[in-house]
Order: sequence, then structure tokens, then C-alpha cells
Amino acid sequence: MNYAKIKGFNDILPEEIGIWQKLEAETKQVFRAFGFREIRMPLMEYTELFSRGIGEETDVVSKEMYTLKDSKDRGMTLRPEATASMVRAYIEHQLYLKNPIQKLFTIGPMFRHEKPQKGRFRQFHQIDAEIFGDPSPKADAELIMMIMHLLNRLGLNDLTLAINSLGCKECRKEFREKLQGFLAQKKDLLCADCQRRAEANPLRVFDCKEESCKKAVAEAPRLLDFICPDCRAHFQGLQDYLKAAGIVFKVNDRLVRGLDYYTRTTFEIQTEKLGTQNAVTGGGRYDGLVKLLGGPDHPATGFAVGMERLVALLAEETPALEEKPQLFMVALGAEAEQKSFLWVKALREAGVWVEAAYESKGLKAQMKMADRCGAYRVLMVGENELATGKGLLRDMQTKEQKEIGLDRLVENLLKEMGI
Ligand code: HAM
Repeated sequence: MNYAKIKGFNDILPEEIGIWQKLEAETKQVFRAFGFREIRMPLMEYTELFSRGIGEETDVVSKEMYTLKDSKDRGMTLRPEATASMVRAYIEHQLYLKNPIQKLFTIGPMFRHEKPQKGRFRQFHQIDAEIFGDPSPKADAELIMMIMHLLNRLGLNDLTLAINSLGCKECRKEFREKLQGFLAQKKDLLCADCQRRAEANPLRVFDCKEESCKKAVAEAPRLLDFICPDCRAHFQGLQDYLKAAGIVFKVNDRLVRGLDYYTRTTFEIQTEKLGTQNAVTGGGRYDGLVKLLGGPDHPATGFAVGMERLVALLAEETPALEEKPQLFMVALGAEAEQKSFLWVKALREAGVWVEAAYESKGLKAQMKMADRCGAYRVLMVGENELATGKGLLRDMQTKEQKEIGLDRLVENLLKEMGI
């Protein structure tokens, strides 16, 4: 039997890991400057957390969750996103008692049973950042500034930021009714899913990719015409902050997002380069979610970056980032092998990446190994070198060779390599 990975689940191979590590390192550096602290939640939660938090009517909850039952028949689900879990942790550990403003981030795998295609997987990774405890548009702007800064620092400039306001519970109610009335007239044009959504969750119809649904909603009422003065001022505030920060954006009043918890600000960062899966970041404000999940009435806002999509963009722009050994130790003869064993140990303990053969091999075979692993330098030690007390250090790029004293070898090598 041949074992293959599960469809939509990917291995990240050593050749590819360099970009992931760079992305994670840059993220941590940028987020630290903005005052975000890391939190790690379990990959699995009780199913109700997601069905309640994200919304029963969303695609994520109604079609895409990986759920299993525990021995007491209670549903447990592999997290499809991080926000609900982070809210649960925020409430469960009363994080707000220590500091009323909590800025948290997490990095890790998420699971959605979607149809795999370019840029869309069943296990994928997100960088997720949330601010708890601040209702102002400044917090939304700060999140957007942070992610834009990270993307620019990574060399990704060719991206579009779209923003919108979904209003609050009150102003959305009026819009919802208007939209339902409009969609009732267009029922025949809507796909089966949207006919259902038109009743239960009409805003989701804006997100449908079916051509006939897109056509049907082209003339639909506009949410921004319905938002209340407070929500309007909030949205204007966000735009003012973004303009002051020099961040280019466009307002897209059809940007509703696929999760039910959003209030007021929503945003997406999109690329032209990844086909239909064009969103590299999505986020927004969710002022009612902490309370809905049993916590205090605290506002919150956040975003998540799809790491596979960013890695795909980065791979296009930057050459492979694979690291190579700094030194390959070639030892010829029993005595040299014995000495090399300890030199290799000492060099590694000094932080130098050294490779050497495990088996006894001739010069040619060992040089081939050095070449294969891409070592920058080779140190050759045989009987002659032991007799003269000088090893031969070869630069594998320039092919230059020089002698290096075997007495105090580690010290000499570190100096030679500029470490
Ligand atoms: P989301 O829009 O569902 O939002 O996902 C955020 C990002 O995750 C997307 O823009 C995309 O880059 C990536 N993503 C989503 N699904 C997949 C998939 N199947 N394969 C590959 N990448 C994917 C959320 O998850 C919210 N929790 C974001 C948020 C945080 N809102 C407030 N705080």
C-alpha cells in the first residue's frame, strides 16, 4: 500500500521552509514593535464555540468544519480560524483584568473542508492578530498599518487594501430588511444557496461567486447608505487615520466577509497574482463577540493573514532561502577521523554548522558529499596534515586553498570565518 497525504493537506519541505521562517521572524519583529504578545491556543475546541461564534449560517460552520465526537458524544472541531478560540481564551483566563487593552497574536494551522485549489487548502496557516478592549477606529487603523508595514517590509507592494463598514446591530437591521425585500424580487436569479441565504443571512449573497447572483445584486441597496451617524463617524475616522498614515485604500461597500461576527470595520488585502483566491488578509471589528461568547461587553478587532498565499507571493519575488553548511570536515585515515570527531563537536558547540561523513570514505567521495550539501568551505585533514600540524582549508566557491593551524583549530577557524 502506498501512503499519500490527505487531499488539501500539505507538507512543507526543507527546501521551502526558509520563506516560512523568514515570514514568521519578520512577523514577530514587526508585531513586537506594535506591542502584540504571542498566545497559543489548542487546535481543537468544542464545536459550539465555532457554531455560535462564527455563525451557523456561514459556509465555514455549515459546510467546512472537521468535527468528531468525544466519548461523551460531545462535538469537537479542528479550528477553522483563530478568532473564536482567542476570544474563548480571553474570557476563560480573564486576560482583561491584567490590562484592559490586550494585543495578542498567534501563528498556526487552521482547518476547513473546502474544495482544494490554487491558494485554497484544507489545512492552511494563519498569522492572526487581535486587539481587545478598544472601540475606536484608531485600533482598526493601527492593525491595518501593522499588516501593511509587514507586507511592505517583505517586499510585497503590489497589493490592494479594500475597506468597508458593516454598521452596528441597529443600523444593519434596517438594511437587512431592505435587502431581503430586494432579494425576494430577484429570487429566480439566485442560486439555491443564495435563495436560502436571502432569508437567513442576506448579506452573504454579496459574497457569492455565481454570475447570476452577482448580476442580481448589482442594483441592490447599499449598506453605506444605511449606517447610523455613529457608525458613519467611526468609518470616517478610520479613513482619516489611514490617509494620515499614507496608506492607500479603496472603499468597497460590497465587502461583507464570510464570518458573521463582524460589526463596523471590515477589510481585505488582495493580490492580482493568485487567481480567484485573491485575499491574502481579511479582518475587521467584532464588538459583540466577546459578550456573545459569555464574556464582558468588550469591543475587539483583528485580522488574519493566509500564510500559504503570502509564501506563494514571496516565492515569486525572492530566490530560495535555503541555508547551507558553513564547513565540511574531510578526514582521511583513522587518526584524522578520531580527531575530526571532536573538532566537529567543538565547532558545533561554538555554533558553526559543520557536516562530516559518518562512514570512512576516500577523498573523492568526501569531496562529493561536501559538494552535494553545498558547504561553503572544506577542511581537509590526513596523515600529512597531522604530521605538519596544518590542515587545508578550501573555499568551495573561489577554489582557493590555505593552510590552517590544527593547534587551537576551533579558534583559528572561527577567526577565518569571521565568526
Ligand atoms: P478569513 O477571511 O476567513 O478570516 O481568513 C483570513 C485569511 O486566511 C484569508 O484572507 C486567506 O488568506 C486565508 N485563508 C482562508 N481560508 C483559506 C484556505 N482554505 N486556504 C488557504 N488560505 C485560506 C478569518 O479567518 C478571520 N478569523 C480573520 C479575523 C481575525 N477577523 C478578525 N480577526
